Amino acid sequence: MKYPHTFRSKMPKVETTIFTVMSALAQEHGALNLSQGFPEFDGGERLRKAVNQAMKSGHNHYAPMAGHMPLREAISEKMEDLYSAKYDPEKEITITAGGTEAISSALTAMIREGDEVILFAPAYDCYAPIIELNGGKPVFVELNPGDYSIDWEKVKRVMNYRTRMIIINTPHNPTGSILNAQDIERLAKLLKGTEILVLSDEVYEHILFEGYEHQSVARFPDLAERSFLVYSLGKTYHNTGWRLGYCLAPENLMEEFRKVHQYSVFTCNTPMQHAFTEMISDSSTYSELGAFYQEKRDLFRESIKGSKFKALPCAGTYFQLLDYSKITDESDLEFAKRLTREFKLASIPISVFYPNSIDNKVLRFCFAKESDTLRRAAEILNTVGK
Ligand SMILES: Cc1ncc(COP(=O)(O)O)c(C=O)c1O
Repeated sequence: MKYPHTFRSKMPKVETTIFTVMSALAQEHGALNLSQGFPEFDGGERLRKAVNQAMKSGHNHYAPMAGHMPLREAISEKMEDLYSAKYDPEKEITITAGGTEAISSALTAMIREGDEVILFAPAYDCYAPIIELNGGKPVFVELNPGDYSIDWEKVKRVMNYRTRMIIINTPHNPTGSILNAQDIERLAKLLKGTEILVLSDEVYEHILFEGYEHQSVARFPDLAERSFLVYSLGKTYHNTGWRLGYCLAPENLMEEFRKVHQYSVFTCNTPMQHAFTEMISDSSTYSELGAFYQEKRDLFRESIKGSKFKALPCAGTYFQLLDYSKITDESDLEFAKRLTREFKLASIPISVFYPNSIDNKVLRFCFAKESDTLRRAAEILNTVGK
């Protein structure tokens, strides 16, 4: 079709995501797909029944703009139980269309032309495009190679009067690293006396291993008072396609957030909000999630011990990074594609998460898969480079 008009893209840098590219390649070559960042299993019978029940009971029309009140109340109680944090369900909690909408609405509500936003590379891919769409400038600080920790001195050096916000993400996608209490305290100290806001992406809050505690910004009142906190029900309950999450922020920030949410989403689907109210009110629905994924992580790591890949530390999320530098000096993108074509195993090259495509010869594998899938993937990895 021919259009009579011309236009300039508002997002000229945005291309087809690597996730789409690798998944399409996996399909074309009949490859096992460990590139996708979502579980192979779903949320289970209890949740499905609760959704059905909500639908049958007539909860099929608009929920309040900020979300079904009993769900917001359940979230408020959960935040108090887990992090001793008080969030008012009336004014400080909004149900969103996944973590993605929470991030996008928070950035859109806060970022103006010329504002700088500090974020860490490698970074989850949805932050920078939305910052730029709003006229802001992403300022990347590279995580320390190896353990992907934050060098706070580097952060201090890039902070200036234009810095409007800093985005943190713990547990971290794509690296599986986490922030500890000293990190968060250091951040609080750095921001003291400034007007810099925080966006804390905590969508993997329940997926930490070896007894590590999630250091939610909510635990730190000095930071919480300037922070948007982002969560994803899809990550916690294995249903990323249902598109539900939530955002928490102090009243004055949440008021602005809701102005954007109201006119982009208005409100999220009602029956699922009813169903999640029941789930969130029962801590046993999320308290074992870390142990559940740790078993998968351990199975995967154990099964590739004889391979030429080196498994990097993984303290949280369902992503395992593998260093392949002993196998080839191909770029990570080339190698990921070849692994898919020739060995029938798809992964994600980490360079795509850096603004300047830094290539540390590392690939990301998602282990939110059935044991059999993980064993088959390991069998493949064990043959590569031999
Ligand atoms: C770090 C991070 N933040 C946010 C999201 C988005 O979550 P949702 O699927 O709920 O939109 C994801 C999803 O992969 C993620 O990995």
